Amino acid sequence: MFDIQEIRSQFAILNQKVNGKPLVYLDNAATSQKPDSVLEVCKQYYTELNANVHRGIHTLSQLATEEMELSRKKVQKFINAKHDFEVIFTKGTTEGLNLIAYILTQKLKKDDEIIISYLEHHSNIVPWQLLCERTGAKLRVIPIDENGILQLEYLDQYLSEKTKVVSVNQVSNALGIVNPIEEIIARTRKHSDAYIVIDGAQSAPHFSIDVQKLDCDFFVFSGHKMYAPMGTGILYGKQSILEELPPFHGGGEMIATCSFEKTTYATLPFKYEAGTPNVGGNIALGAAIDFIEKVGKDNIQRHENVLLEYAQKQLLEIEGLKVYGEKAERVGVVSFNLEGIGISSDVGMILDKMGVAVRTGHHCTQPIMDFFSIAGTVRASFAVYNTFQEIDLLVEGVRKAQKMLA
Ligand code: ALA
Repeated sequence: MFDIQEIRSQFAILNQKVNGKPLVYLDNAATSQKPDSVLEVCKQYYTELNANVHRGIHTLSQLATEEMELSRKKVQKFINAKHDFEVIFTKGTTEGLNLIAYILTQKLKKDDEIIISYLEHHSNIVPWQLLCERTGAKLRVIPIDENGILQLEYLDQYLSEKTKVVSVNQVSNALGIVNPIEEIIARTRKHSDAYIVIDGAQSAPHFSIDVQKLDCDFFVFSGHKMYAPMGTGILYGKQSILEELPPFHGGGEMIATCSFEKTTYATLPFKYEAGTPNVGGNIALGAAIDFIEKVGKDNIQRHENVLLEYAQKQLLEIEGLKVYGEKAERVGVVSFNLEGIGISSDVGMILDKMGVAVRTGHHCTQPIMDFFSIAGTVRASFAVYNTFQEIDLLVEGVRKAQKMLA
């Protein structure tokens, strides 16, 4: 498929030792590592190009603007948006979701409804709760079954003329479950005029995204989970919707004209990009997309799926180990606990001593943990550079932790 050692050689950070052991980085759902090509673009930006964009007549400003707009076009292609101006640079998924919830304020009134799911990250719960507080709208939550699978018959029940927003993730960060968003979008469109928001934070690194085919109104994701720097992210919104809705932040760059009496707003995408953007980061996001496309999204997904299958099979051979969402379709994540060991961070600390980096705890999804009556899980999450040997080390570490904590 591809030469894994060649891929790994592009990620210098993977060569280091942690606690005297070779680093096994399995916390990719929290953030991925960055390849040399992305780091090089960051360095090059600050050593050769650093200037503010869309503001300067001088050469550096124009070059920086060109590079950032080229990156926007790469994102447009990456998600198959119809227009590049439907691509808004943000600092991450959380900002994207808060932005949407804020600009929809005028569209909701008392007793309207917002539908989310049990599988959401806090960033796709709290902004909607805040919107409910501002408007008097109510939150409805699609439940899950014991495998973590969404119970879509509840979506059908909940959808009505009161539904103003349906916001779900494509992949659960805590469990890696792939949600049937095509089906959710189709059912929503059939029964309501609600705005459809997709949280793609955990899907954009793994799947090909086609926002036109999906026919969602908004799609948000983070750059840092897909090999780009932290503080980068994308909000996609349909042209007609972004043009109609009000701005989020006010400030420089988002105005057409500004006076004390009246301000008019800039055209898209600038209306939603107030202030100096993360120019270097946004350009580097384009380099991350180049990296993904060079390796091939299908190749990446196939590799991660094989790793996941291998990891799950090995882990399930450990007596007393439970995988959450075991029977659901998943991508990139295995989330588990050991029977009798209530504190996932104890396992995580032992793994860390062995150089294995995983996330433990509630993963910013407390409702999921409440559903399973647990405080947290141990979560291993995979990226293009992970290997079977690394999974073996994870499994060895978990066995060791089980013995030590028994
Ligand atoms: N949302 C990130 C995670 O799932 C931080 O770990």
